[in-house]
Amino acid sequence: MSKRILITGGAGFIGSHLVKLMVNKYPDYTIFNLDALTYAGNLENLTSVEKAPNYKFIKGDINDAPFLEELFKTHDFDGVIHLAAESHVDRSIKDPLSFIKTNIVGTLNLLHAAKNNWGDFAGKRFYHVSTDEVYGTLGETGLFTEETSYDPRSPYSASKASSDHLVRAYYHTFDFPIVISNCSNNYGPYQFPEKLLPLFINNIKQNKELPVYGDGKYTRDWLWVEDHARAIDVIYHEGKNGETYNIGGHNEWKNIDIINLLIKIMDELLGREAGTSNALIKYVTDRPGHDRRYAIDAQKLQDELGWVPSLQMEEGLRLTAEWYLANSEWMDNVTSGSYQKYYDNQYADR
Ligand code: NAD
Ligand code: DAU
Repeated sequence: MSKRILITGGAGFIGSHLVKLMVNKYPDYTIFNLDALTYAGNLENLTSVEKAPNYKFIKGDINDAPFLEELFKTHDFDGVIHLAAESHVDRSIKDPLSFIKTNIVGTLNLLHAAKNNWGDFAGKRFYHVSTDEVYGTLGETGLFTEETSYDPRSPYSASKASSDHLVRAYYHTFDFPIVISNCSNNYGPYQFPEKLLPLFINNIKQNKELPVYGDGKYTRDWLWVEDHARAIDVIYHEGKNGETYNIGGHNEWKNIDIINLLIKIMDELLGREAGTSNALIKYVTDRPGHDRRYAIDAQKLQDELGWVPSLQMEEGLRLTAEWYLANSEWMDNVTSGSYQKYYDNQYADR
């Protein structure tokens, strides 16, 4: 059956993988990609589908409520998959307001436009893509489940928690057809190099210091980005209204361990003697409020919808490193201009 789906944030890291999956997998659908093209949005991520007949790009800002109202009036979308957001924790510490605007008010604007224009909601679905960071931080043991209480601890996670609450409020108040997922750390091609892995790949390549926050023993659960896109596809089509699904890789790594693995792979790919790039590691001042450990229990998604992650970390990290090395033009383009200034300021403080 043909559908018209609006994906927001489709020029970003995860969004671009999702757009490509949906455009290729569902030739009968029309996939609309609404993106403001902030520093994190890049149409180069989408060149493989830009001419596809079932793909349409719309440049626009979810903070612009009248524009959204008009957009929903013009196009009778069957569904929304909402990824547009400010996504970097460090930036949220320096500039929380843009996170409040886009992540909270922008999400409310979208909910409002969809609800106003979707009649009795029959056949409609609003899917909100969120993060495991809303659950706060874990000690040495335990996993976040869908029942874990919210305890966001950075401006970023507080803004995402707030948007999750608004989406759920629309379900309870208006019977609005929503579904939410909360996912762990993604990695893979096309991630903006402010995030740990692409930043360190780029720095190793250029023999630049690797700024490890605090003691480096913070733990994250890593998921191959295409596995996340697959999970979103399954949840969008088969998830139940009003439900939340956790998505994770069962793949916990302490930062320093994953950095050491990355150095091993990079030295090999760059033809350097094993361990050469270890000398680039520099322990720096910690991120304020740094969450110690995230780990996801994704059993519900496996039991109810049959989704499991596909890739082991060693394989995924190697593919990732190879991709960034083979796509240095992409890296040069996204790091040119204002980004370098931002990066230098960020680390001048540490
Ligand atoms: P990203 O920063 O790479 O991309 C965000 C995209 O949203 C960009 O294309 C940007 O241009 C667009 N955007 C930002 N503000 C906008 C606005 N006001 N109007 C329209 N478009 C706007 O982010 P990502 O890492 O791909 O994350 C996508 C979503 O997934 C976010 O909601 C994030 O919270 C969530 N998430 C990310 C991860 C992760 O590990 N990266 C994990 C779990 C959940
Ligand atoms: O858990 C899901 C979240 O994962 C997403 O919601 C966010 O959008 C995404 O950015 C990511 O958040 P993190 O803060 O975990 O990702 P980041 O890559 O910024 O940092 C990963 C870990 O590495 C974290 O413990 C901080 C540390 N770090 C990060 C950078 C950029 C360093 O030690 N040095 C660095 O330079």
